[in-house]
Amino acid sequence: MSPAIFVDALQAELQNLQYGESPPELYDPIRYIMSLGGKRMRPLLTLMAASLFTDHWQKAVRPALGVEVFHNFTLMHDDIMDQAPLRRGQPTVHEKWNGNVAILSGDVMLVNAYQLLLDVETERLKPVLERFSRTAAEVCEGQQMDMNFETRWDVTESEYIDMIRLKTSVLLGYALELGGLIAGADAETTRHLYEGGMNIGIGFQLKDDLLDVYGDPAKFGKQVGGDIIANKKTFLLIEALQQAKGPLLAELTGWLTKTEFDKREKVEAITSIYDQLGIRQQTEARINDYFARGFVNFDQIKANTDRKNVLIQFTRQLVERES
Ligand code: IPE
Ligand code: IPE
Ligand code: MG
Ligand code: MG
Ligand code: MG
Repeated sequence: MSPAIFVDALQAELQNLQYGESPPELYDPIRYIMSLGGKRMRPLLTLMAASLFTDHWQKAVRPALGVEVFHNFTLMHDDIMDQAPLRRGQPTVHEKWNGNVAILSGDVMLVNAYQLLLDVETERLKPVLERFSRTAAEVCEGQQMDMNFETRWDVTESEYIDMIRLKTSVLLGYALELGGLIAGADAETTRHLYEGGMNIGIGFQLKDDLLDVYGDPAKFGKQVGGDIIANKKTFLLIEALQQAKGPLLAELTGWLTKTEFDKREKVEAITSIYDQLGIRQQTEARINDYFARGFVNFDQIKANTDRKNVLIQFTRQLVERES
């Protein structure tokens, strides 16, 4: 089975989605952000997971898009919180319209996401929505932790992992679990899917942190250095704060405590500190670690080998992604 089948099925249904019409300030931003593309990784994971246990994976398309709409809602609000100017190579919604528009459009996207998730067989509805509601609350918990960490200097690696587990990984876990739930997989199997998604999700967010510093602006689609400008406690910064000594540590904390600075200068200076400490290589090693754990989880799933390979190949390329 080729992954193109899943991409095509999602694309076709995406074009049919009606988010709403009036007032346009409420609904146009939804069409805008959804039209900017993105990897569509979460709904693809749902379809690939469903296909492991049923030939009728098409019934997962609308619920899978519910996860994608929810993800885009979190991006719209995340960009306000992170004061991000760019998303998928285009102006963010709060820049193109304004902050209030981005708040309310995001809110109605959450409602749209629930409507799409309703499209499952009645006997699956309760677990699908219960698990989704829990996951959505966890994403908010992770996002608040992320904001709290901006003004703290003593964030530990384990606090960081807890934070990204919530803001990012649980949704990847849920995307995979959802495919299993819709296809009628047993409880042990959906647990492996979820755990696999959790581990891959941690690797995925570590890679996102890495690209935020070392990504190619032409490919990344977001402002490179945004995390450095905002003093985000990324894996890179936490490691640098632990490993820098003497004058290098003083230089690092000097940049972190400055309230007036030239953005480009700060990004260059902190990137150079990361370079001197070998933080890039350490982050890459950690990314590989978490992906490897995810593949161990996938190994435990009993399913058709060819279909599982589609999922594994797709997941593997996320390690090397540049956007
Ligand atoms: C960005 O998610 C937010 C994170 C969790 C890092 P993606 O990297 O999946 O964004 P798109 O949907 O492909 O644009
Ligand atoms: C955000 O993490 C994860 C969510 C949107 C919940 P980031 O803030 O790192 O995501 P990007 O880099 O803006 O996509
Ligand atoms: Mg953020
Ligand atoms: Mg952000
Ligand atoms: Mg990021």
